[in-house]
Amino acid sequence: MTTIARSPETAPGRLPIVGHALRMKRRPGDFLLSLQASGDAVTVIQLGPKQMYVVNEPGLIRELLRDPETFARGGPITERFRMMFGNGLGISEGEFHRRQRSVIQPAFDHSRIVGYTALMSEVVATRVESWPDGQQIAVDKEMADLALTNVTKVIFAADTAIDIPEFVAATTVVLSGLFRRMTDTIGLTRLPTPANLRYRAATEYLRRTINQVISDYRQSGVDRGDLLSTMLYARDDDGEPVMTDQQLHDEVMTFFIAGSNTISNTLSWALHEIATNPEVEQRLHDEVDRVLAGRAAGYHDVARLEYTRRVITETLRKRTQGLFLSRVTTRDVHLGGYHIPAGSDVLYSFHALNHNPAIHAHPERFDPDRWLPERARAIPRGAFMPFSIGVHGCIGDQFAWVEMIVLLATITARWRLVSAPGHQPKPKLAITMPVDSLPMIAHRREVGVASS
Ligand code: HEM
Repeated sequence: MTTIARSPETAPGRLPIVGHALRMKRRPGDFLLSLQASGDAVTVIQLGPKQMYVVNEPGLIRELLRDPETFARGGPITERFRMMFGNGLGISEGEFHRRQRSVIQPAFDHSRIVGYTALMSEVVATRVESWPDGQQIAVDKEMADLALTNVTKVIFAADTAIDIPEFVAATTVVLSGLFRRMTDTIGLTRLPTPANLRYRAATEYLRRTINQVISDYRQSGVDRGDLLSTMLYARDDDGEPVMTDQQLHDEVMTFFIAGSNTISNTLSWALHEIATNPEVEQRLHDEVDRVLAGRAAGYHDVARLEYTRRVITETLRKRTQGLFLSRVTTRDVHLGGYHIPAGSDVLYSFHALNHNPAIHAHPERFDPDRWLPERARAIPRGAFMPFSIGVHGCIGDQFAWVEMIVLLATITARWRLVSAPGHQPKPKLAITMPVDSLPMIAHRREVGVASS
C-alpha cells in the first residue's frame, strides 16, 4: 500500500522577511520547545530566506540519527563548525569518517579510560587543594581549567607549552562567536566590530597553538601512547601516514572544543544546582563521605557513586549542552509520514526534548531521583540522548561520564560550595550552554564527616 506523505505545517508567528529568525535568535530554547509542545512531529520554520524542518518527535529523531546517508551532516551548525574544525571527526562523513573514527577509537578504550582517570583524579585533587577556605572562587573558570587540563592529558601525554587559561579564554570566545554566526542571516558578523575582531584573534590563536604542538611532536619523533601519537603514527596498508598535518590539526581542535566545554559547563551547572537544592546537597555529601571518606575518587569508585551519577544525569537533562543540532537531506524522504525534500536543512533539539513536560514532569525541577530505574522506565525510550546515538554519537561519552563523576565527587567530598550572595547565574547563548559566571564561596568540609 502506498502512503501519501504530507507537508509539515509552518510554525505560527512567522513575520514578513525575517520569518522566525528573531525568535530563534532571542529565545531559541523556548521557541523550539513551543514547536514540540504543539504536538506536530515535524514543523517548518523560516529563518530569513531559509526554510528549515524541525523534527520534534523522539522516535523520528532516532530514525534520522540512524540514517546518516539520508540525513547527512550539514545545515547551519555544521557549516559554522567547518570554519573551525575543518574536516575533523565532528564534521567528516562516510568512509573517511569511519576510517578516522577507527584510528581514534582506541584512545577511548576501557583500559585507556582507567589510565586517564588516575591522571584526572590527581589533577582535581591538586587543584581543589589550592582553593582559599571561606573565599569566593570563579567556579566556571575553575571547571573550564580542569576540563581543559584533562582533555589536554588525553591528547598530549607530554607537557606542552599551552597556556591553559589563555586557551580556555579563546575557546570561550570562539564558541559564543560561532553561535552568533549561526543565527546571523545578514552578515553582521563579517563587520570589523570589536567582538568580531576578538573572534578572529581567538580563532587564529587556537590554530597557531595547536600547529605548534603538532610540529613539536613531529620533531621529537617519540610515540607517547596518547591521542596525538595514535593519530600521528597511524599508517595505511601501504605504510603511509593516515593523516596530513591539516587533518591532525582539525582532529586536535575538535577534541579540545568537544571535550572541554561540554564537561565544564555541566559541572558548573551541577555545582549551582547542588548549592540551590539543600536535600540534593545533603544526599550527595552523605554518598561521597561514605564512599570516599575525603580522598579523591578513582576509577573503581565510579560504580558506587550512584547518587553522584544521578546528579550528573539530571544536570545533562536540565542544562542540556546544545540547543539544537542539524542535518541536511541527501534525497527526498518521508519521515513519520511527512515529506522532506532533498537538500533541506533539518534541525532537532535535545534541549526541547529534555524540557518537554509531557516527557519529564515538572521539567524545571532539579530532581536526580527521576533517574532511579523504577522512575526512569516511565520516560519514553530514546527521549533522553545526551550523547546522541548512531555513527556520529559522542566518541567521548564513557570518558565524559567517568570524568564528571570523579570530578564532582572529589570536589564535593572536600568542599561545600555556596552561591555568592545576590548572584543568579544565567545561561549564555552559545552552541553549548555555558553559565555566564558562577562566583561561589568555598567552605572546606571536615574530611569524612557528613555536613549538618
Ligand atoms: C558532557 C559531556 C559531553 C556531551 C553532553 C557530549 C555530547 C555530544 C553529542 C550530542 C554529540 C553528537 C553531535 C552531533 O550529532 O553532531 C557529540 C559528538 C562528539 N563528541 Fe561529545 N559530548 C561530551 C563530551 C565529550 C568529550 C569529553 C569528548 C572527547 C574527549 C567528546 C568528543 C566528541 C566528538 C569527537 C564528537 C564527534 C563524534 C563523531 O561524529 O564521530 N565529547 N558529543
